[in-house]
Amino acid sequence: VRYLLTPKDLEGVTVLVSAGPTREYLDPVRFISNPSSGRMGYAVAEAARDRGARVVLVSGPTTLPAPWGVECVRVTSALEMYEAMHAHFAEADVVVMTAAVADYRPAEVKAEKEPKTAGEKVVPLVPNPDILKSLGEAKGDRVLVGFAMETHAGVDRAAEKARRKNLDFICLNYPTREGSAFGSTHNEVTIVTPEGTSEALPRMSKRALADEILDRVHRILHRRV
Ligand code: CTP
Ligand code: CA
Repeated sequence: VRYLLTPKDLEGVTVLVSAGPTREYLDPVRFISNPSSGRMGYAVAEAARDRGARVVLVSGPTTLPAPWGVECVRVTSALEMYEAMHAHFAEADVVVMTAAVADYRPAEVKAEKEPKTAGEKVVPLVPNPDILKSLGEAKGDRVLVGFAMETHAGVDRAAEKARRKNLDFICLNYPTREGSAFGSTHNEVTIVTPEGTSEALPRMSKRALADEILDRVHRILHRRV
């Protein structure tokens, strides 16, 4: 019913969305990751589809079923997500990067399960590429949206990220706020621009928030034509 009633204001637009966590394996049975459920990105993908967009969803490991009518590309690691996002970037008019990309990966992935040893253990980590920043460098006339979770100095840090990654805006959330973000069906974000202006949105379902984000994307697309 929602699909039929939604105005098709993103017809002819291709939206590339990333969602979920990444997994950085240490050995065949252990990995570094985070509690991202993928729900925010899946909600953006479904909302964009309902508004008539063609949607490519690049998803890290989640328990969510692939949404109907969306091209779903499953990845595991940040390096795989980097490859998948770049593979679909040329065809995209809009990129919404909700994925919680691991900043580091183990320098080496052991082929066999590592037995435990006595005492402390240090695992060397190397930085993963910044996917969104690399897309921002090739932005062209695309609309780019990021997400950021900050524990302090949120607006300033988010605005700095929006500038560094060449974004149109970034959705800031706070992990300490009741019911926000990770794992929840609802979210509460502040929309921050590279210029540092901020707009606090009320707590709402991730689907409603997805539509708020796409309303702003739509306005930016139209200001350009
Ligand atoms: N991001 C990305 N690739 C990475 C890290 C982050 O594409 N390797 C994206 C995220 O998907 C998000 C945005 O960049 O949309 C901001 O992520 P965040 O972790 O807040 O930014 P970082 O630049 O990693 O900064 P921090 O040191 O605060 O983690
Ligand atoms: Ca990070």
